[in-house]
Amino acid sequence: MRLASAVTSTVLASTLLFSAIPAAQAAPDKDLPAIESSQLTDASSMLALINPTTKLSPENYTPSKLVNVAGTGMQLRSEAAKAVEQLITDARAAGHSIHLLSAYRSYERQAALFNQYQTKYGTAYAERISARPGTSEHQLGLAADLGYTNSQAELKSAFGQTPAGIWIAKHAVEYGLIIRYPDGKEEITGYKYEPWHVRYTGKEHAKALAQSGAETFEEYFTMLGEASASKKVKATAVAEDEEQDSSAPTDTDSSEESKKSGYGVMKDDDLLVLRFLPPYRDWGFGFSE
Ligand code: DAL
Ligand code: ZN
Repeated sequence: MRLASAVTSTVLASTLLFSAIPAAQAAPDKDLPAIESSQLTDASSMLALINPTTKLSPENYTPSKLVNVAGTGMQLRSEAAKAVEQLITDARAAGHSIHLLSAYRSYERQAALFNQYQTKYGTAYAERISARPGTSEHQLGLAADLGYTNSQAELKSAFGQTPAGIWIAKHAVEYGLIIRYPDGKEEITGYKYEPWHVRYTGKEHAKALAQSGAETFEEYFTMLGEASASKKVKATAVAEDEEQDSSAPTDTDSSEESKKSGYGVMKDDDLLVLRFLPPYRDWGFGFSE
């Protein structure tokens, strides 16, 4: 069983998650950025974790605001768009002719893409290379696929060994982006190596992940959850020691926050617009490995 498959819920089951994924080289709590527990449960959070078994709820979630990525017909959340635009600009300045192949994908687009791979390769292989609808970071508007002009390595693991792929792996963190599906980590992430797929977390967390000893976002997410939970336990103990008045405000339980915030709201008019977007580059692309 994939570790990712132990993380099953439409709303994050934090306790299960934190016990299911190995915490790698656990960094001291003090080295991790402070977070609100809602950052681990809201679809609109830059830290939202979704994978083959942690789904968006509702499954057809659409980010409330998407913007065009400059020079393309594709969209991302604004923070991610700025990061990807800057990375592409700087990579080109460094001599790498990379370009954007795919960015935000709606539930419907992801469903059609997954079905296409399923028909071509069968379910088992399709599940290793493509997220089912409702489980793709592209649906969060935080993921981008980067290609390399005039290269046979496009959308192949060999991209990681090209000068552009090496540059991206080295510099992505400076833009708040991570290589979300690293080589050899399929048991944890659920997917084959994708050196072209970058996911936005923000600079603080991309750097903290790199320094934490975690090799996957799943492991880093677990660390954050454990640190957040232990902070709560400490805070509760201090509060009890001080025999605070029962009417004093207390820390909010994360599961309660999750219930309140939900995972996202889809707006019908957004979906209408998205149906008329041009096809993305990876629409008809095969994975020949
Ligand atoms: N290829 C990645 C896993 C996706 O479909 O989101
Ligand atoms: Zn991707």
